[in-house]
Amino acid sequence: MSTYPTTMRALMLINRVKSFAQPDLESCFEVQEVPVPALEADQVLVKVACSPINPSNLSQLKGQYGDFGKMPLPQFTGGEGSGTVVAAGESAYAQSLVGKRVGTVAQPAGMWAEYVAVSATACIPLTDETTFEDGASCFVNPLTVVAFVEIALAKSAKTIVHTAGASALGKMLLRHAKNNGVKVIAVVRRQEQANALKDIGAEYVVDTSSDDWQNQLEKLATELEATLAFDAVCGTTAGAVLSAMPANSEIFVYGSLSGEGVSGVSPRDLVFLNKKVSGFWLVKYLGQRGAGMVEMVDSVAKSLTSTFRTKIRVSYPLGQAAAALQDYVNDMGNDKVAFKPFS
Ligand SMILES: NC(=O)c1ccc[n+]([C@@H]2O[C@H](COP(=O)([O-])OP(=O)(O)OC[C@H]3O[C@@H](n4cnc5c(N)ncnc54)[C@H](OP(=O)(O)O)[C@@H]3O)[C@@H](O)[C@H]2O)c1
Repeated sequence: MSTYPTTMRALMLINRVKSFAQPDLESCFEVQEVPVPALEADQVLVKVACSPINPSNLSQLKGQYGDFGKMPLPQFTGGEGSGTVVAAGESAYAQSLVGKRVGTVAQPAGMWAEYVAVSATACIPLTDETTFEDGASCFVNPLTVVAFVEIALAKSAKTIVHTAGASALGKMLLRHAKNNGVKVIAVVRRQEQANALKDIGAEYVVDTSSDDWQNQLEKLATELEATLAFDAVCGTTAGAVLSAMPANSEIFVYGSLSGEGVSGVSPRDLVFLNKKVSGFWLVKYLGQRGAGMVEMVDSVAKSLTSTFRTKIRVSYPLGQAAAALQDYVNDMGNDKVAFKPFS
């Protein structure tokens, strides 16, 4: 039987972040000694090994994601990660996970801590060959990628246009879409990213730093019948991408890395060419998807070292929050930065 302490170190947000470049960023965070959470019947206690920084965490720390801006401070931090189940509530399924290495997600937050209480059904047991680093990003991005390809297949789309194409999610999408016979046109903002994607086998990449990028995208989207796009950038990129796509195309906005709203959508595209702008949120998609969740999660668990692999380039202890966040923000496309609470 595992033993664990009654208190733990947790990285708490004590002041909302205004900008990740603010000189006093460190003053927004404090590592506090707090009680180890009590468990409900269907929960398990995970000793956290590794937890990445995701774009959604940046929005949460600024109070701009869901209800985070309304939640009182100090606030727990961190969304997904991996670790070992050291205790469980009374439910049989929760009990069955004790001692297992899992990837998981904390609701609404709490992974940047030594221990976290999570729902047993939000745990994906890791295979023996999956390291804690491989398993730390096993939920949000992989399931989103599975969803994107499911949407493409359901709509009989031959090709997906994907912005922020060099993101961790973008690299997974290239592999998973190919496995399912769907092509991807990756839209990136720097030549280095275009080169990096080509190095890992991307066939179609458009770099928005080129003056001619919209023409290049239009030519490719027409040739490859790309009628479906997923956009994580927003701003004028969303409208420009939709304009470059054929009639009857649909763009799903699923992030706002530019920090801007959707702009530049041409009324001609909407009115005469029957194009559409929609939204995608994984939580809502999974809620509506119905049967097959177990198979979906199982297929992700088996491919965390291949199709759904996320590389972690560096990890930090909880006490170096500002350094970790600035490192991530300054080089987001270069694999993930993570916290390891026991390092
Ligand atoms: N809606 C949902 O349910 C859902 C689910 C999962 C993920 N997401 C979203 O998916 C996106 C990717 O997540 P991730 O974890 O894969 O990200 P990541 O690995 O941290 O990579 C972020 C990427 O975005 C690029 N980027 C940042 N700011 C940009 C801007 N203003 N214009 C163009 N590109 C920009 C970066 O390029 P540089 O190297 O040039 O900085 C980098 O390639 C995020 O927006 C996240 O919120 C949404």
